[in-house]
Amino acid sequence: MRRGEGESPAVLRARHVVLSVMVVLGCLGGAGNAGAKVRGPCSNCHTMHNSQNGAAIMTFNLHVGTVSKQGPLGQLLRSDCVGCHTNASGSDTIVDLGGGSRVPIVFNPNGGLQYPPDGNANSVLAGGNFYWVAHDGDVYGHNVYGISGIDSNLSHAPGGFTCNNSCHMSLATPSTGCTGCHVPHHHKDDGVAGVTGEGDGWYRFLGDPMGSSDFGVTGIEDPNWEQNPTKDQHNVYKGTTTVYIASSVDTTGKGNAIGAFCSGCHSKFHDAMNNAQPGSVSGDWIRHPSDVALPNSGEYSGYNNGTDIYNPLAPVAKPDLSVGVTDVVVPGTDIVMCLSCHRPHGSPYPDMLRWDYPGACVAGTANSNCGCFVCHSTKDDE
Ligand code: HEC
Ligand code: HEC
Ligand code: HEC
Ligand code: HEC
Ligand code: HEC
Ligand code: HEC
Repeated sequence: MRRGEGESPAVLRARHVVLSVMVVLGCLGGAGNAGAKVRGPCSNCHTMHNSQNGAAIMTFNLHVGTVSKQGPLGQLLRSDCVGCHTNASGSDTIVDLGGGSRVPIVFNPNGGLQYPPDGNANSVLAGGNFYWVAHDGDVYGHNVYGISGIDSNLSHAPGGFTCNNSCHMSLATPSTGCTGCHVPHHHKDDGVAGVTGEGDGWYRFLGDPMGSSDFGVTGIEDPNWEQNPTKDQHNVYKGTTTVYIASSVDTTGKGNAIGAFCSGCHSKFHDAMNNAQPGSVSGDWIRHPSDVALPNSGEYSGYNNGTDIYNPLAPVAKPDLSVGVTDVVVPGTDIVMCLSCHRPHGSPYPDMLRWDYPGACVAGTANSNCGCFVCHSTKDDE
């Protein structure tokens, strides 16, 4: 029997905690990291017959959340999306299976998480964590199959279509789940140290919806999934200022932007944000803008306390990724987008916001935990 087979996930993982910490620390040094492509022994992740000594091979974490599954599984995998990307027993958010297989964790059912991330091993990754939607209730994240039941407040994606297209109705059904947003390509090349695009399986596998190849997100991927984001160590998000029509299958102008991806299901929150739309955004804002440049005037020219230094609490997107990973924010060019304010998996705050909006954002007071002040730099106590 190979190492790991037949062992409980807790044993498997405890064994690698030390290694995991070492790998993470090693990566804080910067260049030359293992990239987004999966690495390590095939047996970490695949089983050929799901049988050893006549017994089913222990797969990991198939019984967390609302769904209980038995192998054998498709693509000869030892677990499914939720199973591999869950740390069932601990609060670490990157788990090492040995041999270089580092798994980014999106669900820690026991919590104990650090938010916002500060580089400790229990820091939530860029997308947030499904702990809060499972533990605190439906408003704290996307309700996803295998973790949560169908949202009790929302019968479809707010701002989106209400046609019978399942991923626009709920991501908590067997045909949607994680793959309602991600179409995985775990063995494709990675874009670390460069731009991740179609040839790499798109930024964080956000592309090829419904099996087509007509849209995908580009970006630059932080090798530690922003477990330790700083002004010059972070994901680089793609934005666009072309006024595209998110509800259309026509990808013209969408510019492979992350905001166009969210708006694919929440279209009105982009397509009806200004009363001069469609066509232009020269009128009044009737919803908060997304995929619009920060003006290089007024309070917006003073992003992050007038420093114009990148702040991972309220990130901006770039229209051109060739600038690479930089701490420089350029008002007039850089872009407000859905992820300036939201975490796609979930957060400790309602509407999966990146910060405590009702508690921390009080006009006329200073609070560095309020992301609104990062762009609206004169609405605090100055
Ligand atoms: C057998 C374990 C396993 C299974 C099953 C699995 N993943 Fe992964 N996944 C991994 C590992 C390991 C990585 C990290 C690859 C790397 O080093 O960047 C990863 C990375 C990812 C990433 C981040 C990619 C990036 O750019 O860093 C996403 C998104 C993802 N997986 C989604 C999914 C979805 C959706 C499913 C189900 C369809 C799934 N995974 C099934 C192990 C797994
Ligand atoms: C760290 C986990 C991990 C390791 C290690 C791993 N795989 Fe995979 N593999 C996956 C996941 C997850 C998928 C799911 C499909 C996808 O994302 O494309 C996959 C899919 C596949 C597929 C079908 C899709 C494709 O890209 O062809 C093959 C074949 C495959 N793996 C072979 C291997 C072999 C051979 C090894 C060892 C040399 C290996 N894998 C090691 C996680 C892993
Ligand atoms: C509503 C769409 C959506 C759903 C549903 C979703 N994800 Fe994600 N996921 C994203 C986005 C967007 C990112 C990129 C976040 C970033 O870079 O800021 C991401 C990032 C990731 C990453 C990289 C780690 C990180 O936090 O950046 C992994 C791994 C991942 N997702 C796995 C999953 C798994 C497993 C599921 C199902 C349990 C899932 N996702 C469901 C949108 C989604
Ligand atoms: C594949 C379709 C789909 C995509 C893509 C998608 N969403 Fe959603 N979203 C939904 C559905 C369905 C709901 C309602 C059910 C729920 O909350 O899970 C929802 C709910 C939400 C909510 C409210 C959560 C609550 O329960 O109150 C927010 C906020 C949100 N989405 C933000 C985003 C952001 C930001 C992105 C881009 C990273 C995104 N969504 C991408 C389908 C989608
Ligand atoms: C400036 C910050 C900000 C930006 C940018 C932003 N949102 Fe929101 N979002 C919020 C706040 C705050 C709420 C809480 C409800 C409200 O104030 O209207 C919210 C609520 C939501 C909801 C829940 C609505 C409901 O009925 O429960 C969804 C869905 C959502 N946003 C999606 C998006 C999408 C998609 C984008 C990008 C097109 C986006 N948001 C951009 C701040 C933002
Ligand atoms: C990443 C930067 C960014 C963040 C974070 C942000 N905003 Fe904005 N906001 C903008 C931009 C850019 C505009 C449009 C400015 C323009 O076109 O003149 C805007 C417009 C607005 C407007 C309309 C102003 C008008 O003239 O009609 C309001 C109100 C607003 N934001 C409130 C908020 C609140 C509340 C938050 C926190 C939940 C927030 N914003 C977070 C960048 C941001």
